[in-house]
Amino acid sequence: MMKKIILAIPKGRIMQELEPLLSRIGIIPESEFFNEKSRKLTFKTNFSNLEIVKIRSFDVASFVKFGGADIGICGKDVIEEFSSSEFYSILDLKIGKCRLSLAKEKNCEKNFLTLENIRVATKYTKISQEYFAKNGIQAEIIKLNGSIEIAPKLKLCDFIIDLVSSGQTLQENNMIEVEKILDITSYLIANRTSLKTKNFEMTELIKMFDES
Ligand code: PRP
Repeated sequence: MMKKIILAIPKGRIMQELEPLLSRIGIIPESEFFNEKSRKLTFKTNFSNLEIVKIRSFDVASFVKFGGADIGICGKDVIEEFSSSEFYSILDLKIGKCRLSLAKEKNCEKNFLTLENIRVATKYTKISQEYFAKNGIQAEIIKLNGSIEIAPKLKLCDFIIDLVSSGQTLQENNMIEVEKILDITSYLIANRTSLKTKNFEMTELIKMFDES
């Protein structure tokens, strides 16, 4: 009897790239999975022991860390922000390419390297703190959960640290990238204990992703 595996998948834009990946691998979730209007959170697949949960990308790391999910897909940004010895990065899936960057408004003449104290809005407080500490910069980090690009406009801060993909959001909000902090792609991450207790099932699943 195969042991049950729960795979955590992030909601949002990444789904466009995940759909063809899952189909290449041969994982077919129940049809509700592709219905964006559906409020369902757990989904059966064509593998009787494999279930998929759809959650926010930041939460994938938490679910895999605490063993609520055995395996998950999340960006390098999330892995770095929530780094833990309870989960391992197993495989670079080479999808969801983007970057985490420091940005400011086009007309802002401030230089973050020479300023005494800067204020930065971001979802990524840990990565940001580490980045500024490494560069010897005094920074006050303001934690926001989304729509970060509005913060400089409303004078909350001069700089933001956020994801840049096409660059459209920065452009439409009159902002420019100052410096890239991290190159991002999505990874398969696995719970440390599940790798031991469900070794056969986990290895088989990882192999499927690896060979796709
Ligand atoms: C992300 C990110 C940026 C945007 C960048 O936001 O936070 O705002 O995408 O992408 P672009 O360079 O292609 O414009 P998302 O749409 O995931 O929503 P959020 O604001 O709730 O984080």
